[in-house]
Amino acid sequence: KTIEEGVVTWESPSNIALVKYWGKKEHQIPANPSISFTLSHCKTITTLEFSEKENKIDFSFDVFLNDEQKDDFKPKIETFFKRIEAYLPFLKHYHFVIKTKNTFPHSSGIASSASGMSALALCLTSIDRMLSKNHENLNKSFFNKKASFLARLGSGSACRSIEGSLVAWGKHEAFTESSDLYGVKYPFEVHENFKNYRDTILLVDKGEKQVSSTVGHGLMHNHPFADERFKQAHKNLNDLIAVFKSGDLDAFIKIVESEALTLHAMMMTSMPYFILMKPNTLQIINKIWAYREKTNSKVCFTLDAGANVHMLYPESEAENINQFINNELVEHCQNGQYINDKIGLGAKLL
Ligand code: PMV
Repeated sequence: KTIEEGVVTWESPSNIALVKYWGKKEHQIPANPSISFTLSHCKTITTLEFSEKENKIDFSFDVFLNDEQKDDFKPKIETFFKRIEAYLPFLKHYHFVIKTKNTFPHSSGIASSASGMSALALCLTSIDRMLSKNHENLNKSFFNKKASFLARLGSGSACRSIEGSLVAWGKHEAFTESSDLYGVKYPFEVHENFKNYRDTILLVDKGEKQVSSTVGHGLMHNHPFADERFKQAHKNLNDLIAVFKSGDLDAFIKIVESEALTLHAMMMTSMPYFILMKPNTLQIINKIWAYREKTNSKVCFTLDAGANVHMLYPESEAENINQFINNELVEHCQNGQYINDKIGLGAKLL
């Protein structure tokens, strides 16, 4: 089949890891398995216009963020195209116009790489499907796998944003269908307690990332604690299976908070070493702990490779937690900013 031109639009969400991916091998293969909640409101909407071009020997594209041309995004996309060319033979046949928007403020310190790279991967997978003579490509589960596989080559964690609401990535002994190459929908029982689970993201620091995730993953090579850390991730993921089944939120809290602190501990004990938490990050963590002491709350925190705090809590606590945030936590947020989000179902074709 040939198509001269066309357009496709996908929206794809961000995700928050419960067991963290930190450390990778060649070709974006994770050093340990991870699992994440897919988010709902924090997402990227990407429209990809494609038109056949004469010259078929190099990549050609323009990128716009919120209608503004963004040439500084180009090198990252060029690298992505090079990595995925072998799987998308049409890539050099078209000129692409990539128009992208995020529902969260750019440079809010919320990583847009997971939602951004997955949205772009989905658009490209759609084109692949339009051009394909291969019936396998029409199957939804194959489509999702391929999109996740491609998204991984853009940004590792992006492969966990295609589906919802819990996605595992990386070979794990308890999941026969798990893979290092793409994310899979969590296949086991999940207790009611986790239904509509909330994630409020407290924006502590909107500054440029001190450590890019590429550099960060690199710090796990020859890290003195790497082997133990990778083993621990396997165990934590295994333990989470029982937790998701039983709905034991106290056990959930222990695993999730320990994972967040371990991620930061790895950064503090690598060479070179980094502290990515800010004083306000610690203030918030201490207040969350104090709040749990004095109430029956099951709220817990997790962190990405930055200073912002994700507060995870059951839907039934939403009102109380909102009060807690307004009374005690907004003062630790930059310009009082936070984002209310919740577990979501994955990407959507628009
Ligand atoms: O997808 P990357 O390469 O930006 O790595 C993300 C790593 C963490 O966000 C810190 C953890 C994770 O599993 O999402």
